[in-house]
Amino acid sequence: SKADSSLQIASQPSVRSEDEYADMDWDKLGFGLTPTDYMYVMRCSKDENFKGGRLSRYANIEISPSAGVLNYGQARPPFSPFRLINKCSLYGKHKTLTWKNSIQGLYEGTKAIRTEDGRILLFRPEQNATRMRHGAERMLMPSPSIQQFVDAVKETVFSNKRWIPPPGKGSLYVRPLLLGTGPILGLAPAPEYTFLVYASPVRNYFKEGTAPLNLYIDEEFVRASPGGAGGVKTITNYAPVLKAIARAKERGFSDVLYLDAVERKYLEEVSSCNIFIVKGNHISTPATNGTILEGITRKSILEIARDQGYQVEERAIPVDDLVDADEVFCTGTAVGVAPVGSITLQNRRIEFKTEGSLVSKQLYSTLVGLQTGRIEDKKGWTVEI
Ligand code: COI
Repeated sequence: SKADSSLQIASQPSVRSEDEYADMDWDKLGFGLTPTDYMYVMRCSKDENFKGGRLSRYANIEISPSAGVLNYGQARPPFSPFRLINKCSLYGKHKTLTWKNSIQGLYEGTKAIRTEDGRILLFRPEQNATRMRHGAERMLMPSPSIQQFVDAVKETVFSNKRWIPPPGKGSLYVRPLLLGTGPILGLAPAPEYTFLVYASPVRNYFKEGTAPLNLYIDEEFVRASPGGAGGVKTITNYAPVLKAIARAKERGFSDVLYLDAVERKYLEEVSSCNIFIVKGNHISTPATNGTILEGITRKSILEIARDQGYQVEERAIPVDDLVDADEVFCTGTAVGVAPVGSITLQNRRIEFKTEGSLVSKQLYSTLVGLQTGRIEDKKGWTVEI
């Protein structure tokens, strides 16, 4: 059938390792992809609901050259149908999903953590599920129910348990994808959709580790504009910033901080994370207005900061406010809470406090405490597998 021909995956899992840990050097983890054992796949046709999801061995997938996601998303240059076919073939286990940035769709990111007392905790996975559902509405895609999403994440984590790093050595990053995989030539919603979840052990996102970040404001590029899709986690928000990141890295910066598309005056977000500024007892972050990603770490830090008595504000933050800021920090699932040491705009470098007692450190310590089970979770944010 049409649906069956658009995406094929490897057979059902047959082997499940009983080893507590995979054989790897946990001290060498960064944020690169380490292929794990299983992925979760579920499909549906347009106008239907997702059903029948299952685990399969983690492997490359085969996809129609006319899949909606490949044709109307960004493709990595040099673009050639032959390269695409080669890259998307089923080569077997342990090959990286080399095309993962080249397709149109939505993605999520969440983490599973192994606690000191041997439990496995997820952090607010239903928030990821809800965000994917909002994104799917915006992109005219069907989406899994919240329960289906959370169950798929749990199954993916559990089947890849041996890849969850030991306590204190990192986490298992879980990457749910929602893709229009059915063939379509005209610009219209794809006839078939695939929800896929894979996972990789990770530690620090930035090569700086936990050292302060040096951000660059590149006024030429914007991340999102009003009326666009910056507020949802579509993969099409990420490829366009690659050039800005590359340029900033060439100049020795960690990442790019984008300004608003209309006035080029207000802070928006960093390529991979949200941004906060601290001034005395006041903590502010740009208000979400359709151009800023509603980060789950952002939301959690806002709540933790309020609990700890800070004056918390979501507002338009003029770039000039950086001059008076005591501290600046970034938040994200991959990034965690990262202090910012400096922000450079044109030839002006503004520096922030990164030593001594830091607000960002104190907030992160509470967040990590909850995520790792060290602090009792009275908020019901963690989900044990
Ligand atoms: C995450 O923090 O989970 C993200 O999706 C950001 C990505 C650039 C790694």
